[in-house]
Amino acid sequence: MINYKEEIATKIAKVTNLNKQELEQYIEVPPNSDLGDYAFPCFKLAKDLRKAPPIIANEIKENIEIDNNIIERIDVVGGYLNIFINKKELAKTVLEEISKQKEKYGSSNIGEGKTAVIEYSSPNIAKPFHIGHLRTTVIGGALYKIYNFLGYNTIGLNYLGDWGLQFGKVIAGISLWKNEYDFENDEMGSILKTYIRFNQEEKEKPELTEMARDSFKKLEKGEPEIVKQWEHIRKISIENYSRTYKLLNSKFDSYDGEAYYNDKMTPIIEELKAKGLLKESQGAQVVDLEEYDMPPCIVVTSAGTTIYATRDLAALKDRINRYNFDKLIYVAGSEQQLHFKQVFKVMELMGYGDYVAKCTHVPFGLIVDKDGEKIGSRKGNSVFLEDILNESIDKVKDIIKEKNPDFEDRDEIARKVGVGAIIFNDLSNSRIKDEIFDWDMLLNFQGETGPYIQYIYVRTRSLLNKAGYIPQIQEIDYSKLQEKEAINILKLIYTFNEVLQNAADKNEPSILARYLIDLSQSFSTFYNEHKIITEDKFVQGARLYLSYAVGIILKTGAELLGMEMPERM
Ligand code: ARG
Repeated sequence: MINYKEEIATKIAKVTNLNKQELEQYIEVPPNSDLGDYAFPCFKLAKDLRKAPPIIANEIKENIEIDNNIIERIDVVGGYLNIFINKKELAKTVLEEISKQKEKYGSSNIGEGKTAVIEYSSPNIAKPFHIGHLRTTVIGGALYKIYNFLGYNTIGLNYLGDWGLQFGKVIAGISLWKNEYDFENDEMGSILKTYIRFNQEEKEKPELTEMARDSFKKLEKGEPEIVKQWEHIRKISIENYSRTYKLLNSKFDSYDGEAYYNDKMTPIIEELKAKGLLKESQGAQVVDLEEYDMPPCIVVTSAGTTIYATRDLAALKDRINRYNFDKLIYVAGSEQQLHFKQVFKVMELMGYGDYVAKCTHVPFGLIVDKDGEKIGSRKGNSVFLEDILNESIDKVKDIIKEKNPDFEDRDEIARKVGVGAIIFNDLSNSRIKDEIFDWDMLLNFQGETGPYIQYIYVRTRSLLNKAGYIPQIQEIDYSKLQEKEAINILKLIYTFNEVLQNAADKNEPSILARYLIDLSQSFSTFYNEHKIITEDKFVQGARLYLSYAVGIILKTGAELLGMEMPERM
């Protein structure tokens, strides 16, 4: 495919004798295409060339080689060169590339030879897998797929919260109330009820907290009965989560969670000691971080137990050895910002600064309802993610039933649309913002939603079905794709790879999500303005091929976000 920025930079370099790469960086895309498809701000060269920007602009314009296949026209406006590309060539280069690459279109090999480790989801098992873990699961899942598409060797880690006092609570709770819940038929539900009840009752009965500590200590010491119980809870929790993961298309290469690091705790504490970083504070062992404006990082509590931070230190060290990563991304809520800053700083002080520089905490906002209240926060009534996904699927089933009672594959399509709506809603705004969870909004087929993108995709498919063929690329007459609505689409398709790279650079899947909305809306405008199935076979062929191309990008893009595309709707 033609690399426009590079071509333009090469031509300007020839005239100015300046460095091509540098020139390329200055090239802009004007907000309004009446001002050109690209613009070059000549004031960037004023210092090097010792001339006023308008003079530079005119000189470049006079001397630049206008090769009709790429640059069609250049206007000088003040110190700017406004560059207009040949649109027929644009259509050709974009659609030929689509025909070559198909669903690989937009991928690249910039990540070749590099490893991106993405840690996401990481629920605390024995606690409910509630809607609070939707965001990390969906954002991390999208990053995992995007990095992979860009050629990285990707490793997805589910750092299960499978260790800690919560197990003491569950195990103690079970010993107390075993007969009060239906463990036989609903084991997971009973475990969760036990956990929730334990948390409530321990507020009035401090002896319960003692019991929980005691049980957890036994677990840490490896008492066989307790370890067996823990293993069982872990196993059924993972089984339970896997249904949710299946619905969300989440894949992990490792489930090594906090418990996995249990025996790697002593070595990390020893190493901290040997490096002179540990000091005692009120009976606890801490790393002092005052110099860095942070509270101390507690490594061993006054009760002699290790904590969350200790395990993260051990885990990071292990990941350095295991994966030799180029990037390690932690997708976890913004309330953990300080925690990660502390862990990274301690690792840096231990001498792992080179690796810490490759680590990023990717935070995100809360999920709130229309009124801004946090969802699932009210005591005791956690909102289970699986239930929400199923509710969404049911709502879509109802919509289909109402609109199209004889529809086949209703269940299959309702699953794709219902789940897609939830995923897209999570990813459609920049992640640091709170996500608004509102059924009417996220299931609105006309809104900026997952269902809307799916609907537009289905429309591209049904056009091809109606026509009964996918045109041959050799037969496309590119001069038939010169309306501004068509060009708009071609330009969007052209930038797909750039969008993906940008999303990866910023660890921001919403960049891709917004792009898919833009592309869908542009297609919708095109479709409303221009007949696609029409008398003139050349016009039809060109427009059909454009529809086909849009369909490919929408599908690829949506799948990178973790959605599935229905073929009919
Ligand atoms: N299990 C934690 C939670 O649910 C998230 C883990 C984040 N990752 C980490 N390496 N600490 O809040």
